[in-house]
Amino acid sequence: MKVLQIIVLLIICLTQRVELLIPPKFQWKTIDFAWNGDLKNVAMASGGYIPENIMPTGLARWKNKLFIAIPRWKKGVPSSLNYVYLNGSQSEPLLPYPSWKDAFILDDAETINSNATVVSAFRMHVDKCDRLWVVDNGVADMSTDVKQIAEPAVVVFDLNRDSVVRRYEMTGEVLRDSSVLTSVVVDFVGKSCDCGEAYAYITDMGSNALIVYSFKDDDAWRVENHYFHFDPHAGVYKVGGIDFYGSDGVSSAALSQVKSDGYRDLYLHPTSSTKQFKMSTKLLRHKDAPEEEIFNGVLVVGEKGPFSQASACDFDPKNNVLFFTQVCKNAIGCWNIDKPFTPQNTPTVVRDCTLLEFPNDVKVDKEGNLWILSDRQARFLHGHLDPAQVNFRVLTAPVTKLIQGTACERSSLVTRAWSALSSRRNSAKAK
Ligand SMILES: *[C@@H]1O[C@H](CO)[C@@H](O)[C@H](O)[C@H]1NC(C)=O
Ligand SMILES: *[C@@H]1O[C@H](CO)[C@@H](O)[C@H](O)[C@H]1NC(C)=O
Repeated sequence: MKVLQIIVLLIICLTQRVELLIPPKFQWKTIDFAWNGDLKNVAMASGGYIPENIMPTGLARWKNKLFIAIPRWKKGVPSSLNYVYLNGSQSEPLLPYPSWKDAFILDDAETINSNATVVSAFRMHVDKCDRLWVVDNGVADMSTDVKQIAEPAVVVFDLNRDSVVRRYEMTGEVLRDSSVLTSVVVDFVGKSCDCGEAYAYITDMGSNALIVYSFKDDDAWRVENHYFHFDPHAGVYKVGGIDFYGSDGVSSAALSQVKSDGYRDLYLHPTSSTKQFKMSTKLLRHKDAPEEEIFNGVLVVGEKGPFSQASACDFDPKNNVLFFTQVCKNAIGCWNIDKPFTPQNTPTVVRDCTLLEFPNDVKVDKEGNLWILSDRQARFLHGHLDPAQVNFRVLTAPVTKLIQGTACERSSLVTRAWSALSSRRNSAKAK
């Protein structure tokens, strides 16, 4: 009887948790845009818009806007950087950012339209100074006939003015032929956390590296480490009924709060890995850090268990919780960084085979809401998407509600006091 009650309770709590997210804030069968006049027909006729080739991979919320990034993986993506208003309809068409004039380009373009053009981006970051950071790979038709339209660049927008404040083109020195720049996260320095003193940490999934960009010095450098490579034990995936192999390196990172030494930890992971790593920003910000320090500078935080590969992560500073996509589990996982990193302490908080088929990106906004993008990427890359079905979804819920009753919830004062006391007692015994 007891067991049955527990099971019923469990089912209720699970369904409630999923219900929190239903209905999705946005969902699309195929991605369409808010076209100007007759442009849609012209673009379709010329191959500038091929709906079935479009799959979003990144999101970021700022005020009344939700930004959505679409890499030029295949031909016919009219605009890589886009947004919708939060007050829009559930299948709202996308608006190119900052404008059609800047963002719309064809696959065979020779140059970009302006310094505000983003050719191909995966993910974005909104910083505390109302700026949007985007890493442009500059390529079209990535999967078949790669064409470099612009130099890979860090592009920073002023969201209040919808204008570019910086476009930093990366040199060959920090990149490799195999470079694929996926995520960016931004760090502020000093007590005043001045907007000008920012560092961006960019993951190069294709060539297993981090690229550090100093906004103040307008300079970038490359950081390599063996832990940025994929783990051969974690190369097998099964998502949406499709089995595939992956060998992607470091693909996403998130920053902790400033620690007592004045620096943050950068939490990072390769996609094809079930481990969590971290590295101090003290080392990353040091352009000429000795090779040996970099070699020893990445720490293994822990292991999440089988099929826990993650494409993206983000950190909630209010609850001290790291969130990550759980690609093979159709779920989002979490970890309270004040607790040991173990499979027990890294539960999934939402899980749904349909709504969360291939959760690709996850973000925490300034108000403490979690945003999730699921996009059926396995079908898109290894099979095909059915345009009659919903393929892309954006779900959102407050973090505090999501982690309630899970191992990611902040432990109560009593528990914390007890564990502090018992560890003190143990260390006293040890002496
Ligand atoms: C949504 O907000 C935008 C910007 O504030 C506004 O222009 C638009 O009219 C609003 N749409 C609806 C449907 O209310
Ligand atoms: C971008 O281009 C505009 C218009 O040409 C120019 O005014 C602005 O200074 C440029 N910004 C950057 C960061 O290059």
